[in-house]
Order: sequence, then C-alpha cells, then structure tokens
Amino acid sequence: MEGLFDDEYEWINEILNLGDYSIKLRALEPDAGQIDVCLSQVRWNAAMPMIDHVKSNYIEKDNASATEGKVGLELGSGTGALGIFIMKYAKFAEFYLSDFDAKSVKLIKDNILLNDLKISEKQDVLPLDWGKPEVCETLKDKRDQFDFICGSDIIYSAQATKDLATSIAYFLKNDGECYLANHVIRVNKLETQFEKECAEKGLEVTFEGFVDDEQKIKLHKIVKKSL
Ligand SMILES: C[S@@+](CC[C@H](N)C(=O)[O-])C[C@H]1O[C@@H](n2cnc3c(N)ncnc32)[C@H](O)[C@@H]1O
Repeated sequence: MEGLFDDEYEWINEILNLGDYSIKLRALEPDAGQIDVCLSQVRWNAAMPMIDHVKSNYIEKDNASATEGKVGLELGSGTGALGIFIMKYAKFAEFYLSDFDAKSVKLIKDNILLNDLKISEKQDVLPLDWGKPEVCETLKDKRDQFDFICGSDIIYSAQATKDLATSIAYFLKNDGECYLANHVIRVNKLETQFEKECAEKGLEVTFEGFVDDEQKIKLHKIVKKSL
C-alpha cells in the first residue's frame, strides 16, 4: 500500500478483530502531540465499543429488518473504523461515511481500499460539514431519508453540538434512529447542551446505557419527536 498515505506523522497499521469479524485500519499513532492537529486521523476511544454494539445488534442478531433495504450514514467518520466495519458486514442498501476534513476523507478512501471494499454510488465517503448539510452535493437531496445514523466520539466540542444537531435533523427519517457513542470525559460536559440543541431542532435524545465494561462509553439514541 506504499504511496497511499503521507509520511509526516507516525502511522500504525491495525487489524481490528472482533471474534469472527475483522477490518484493517491505517491510522495515526494516538500520541498527544498529534491529536490536536490530526484528530480526524486517530481512532478515538468510542469507535471499538460502538463497532461491538453494531456487531451485536445489526450483524449477529437475527435483525435483518434493521438493515435490509435501509439507508445508513456515519457522521464524523475520522479514520473510517466504524463505517468501514458497517460497510463490510452489515447489509444496508446504501451506506455513506462522512467527514468535513479532507485528510479524513482521503484516509477513509484509502482504508476502504485496504479492506478490498468498493466505492460506488450506494457506498461512498463524502465531504460533509454538519452545519451545512445542503452543501454536500451527493447528500443534499437525501433530506429526511436516513433510517440509521451513527457516530463515535463526535460529541466532543461545544462549538460543534449545534451543527451536529442540524445534520441529524436534516438527514434522519421521521421514524429513523441515530446512535452516538461517546467517551464520558467529553460527553458528560456537553450532553445537556447537545440535548438542548437537539430539542430546538425537533429531536429527542435518550441515554441508552454504556457500551463498554468499564462504563466509560455512553450510548445516546436520537429520534425525531413525533408530531
Ligand atoms: C473526535 S474525532 C472522532 C473520529 C471517529 N469518529 C472516531 O471515533 O475515531 C471527531 C471527528 O468529527 C469530525 N468533525 C468535527 N466537526 C465536524 C463538522 N462540523 N462536520 C463534519 N465532521 C466534523 C472531525 O473531522 C473528526 O473526524
């Protein structure tokens, strides 16, 4: 895979194993010196517990109706770990990964190739800024069309919570479900603000429990309030 990735920082090649399932991932070493400038190229804490949650609830469980014929979207995909796992093993009719950072979009494309998966009209990675969903050429016409939206560690900055709520409200179907997993160190400070931003956009947030044994990663479900 030489030439696919730039060499400015220290890269790691991982195989993320979950029982019978695995994906390959190229990401930056999660070193504190790099994390500020390269946060989208590091795999964050909530990604693996969220992958495990998706595996149990959408892949292993006899729950075909949750994915077959359904349209899914990952917001703030970063390295692509969660979305690529979903692309590889879940049976969504369409699934898109997204991020507003061009470096992340490139890394995800490279990681998709690393896993021998194909980019197509129905399976892609797109540049999407949460505050401006209507600007994304491919997704702007998919307003209210997503059955499933997910993300890991994307509730992490006070400035971004409003924009995040904007994109969830824009893309989620009336009966769709959005699941976000986040480390308590970030989400505990921001969940009240995020719930408020969501309420202003007609969304309802519920805490679903922890998705890891150490109770560090919280899962929230977001739905549209019934009219
Ligand atoms: C903390 S990282 C988490 C990355 C990945 N989900 C993970 O768990 O490893 C947050 C991600 O959200 C993206 N992001 C932040 N603000 C955004 C925005 N306004 N629109 C789109 N993506 C955004 C960042 O580029 C970054 O990839």
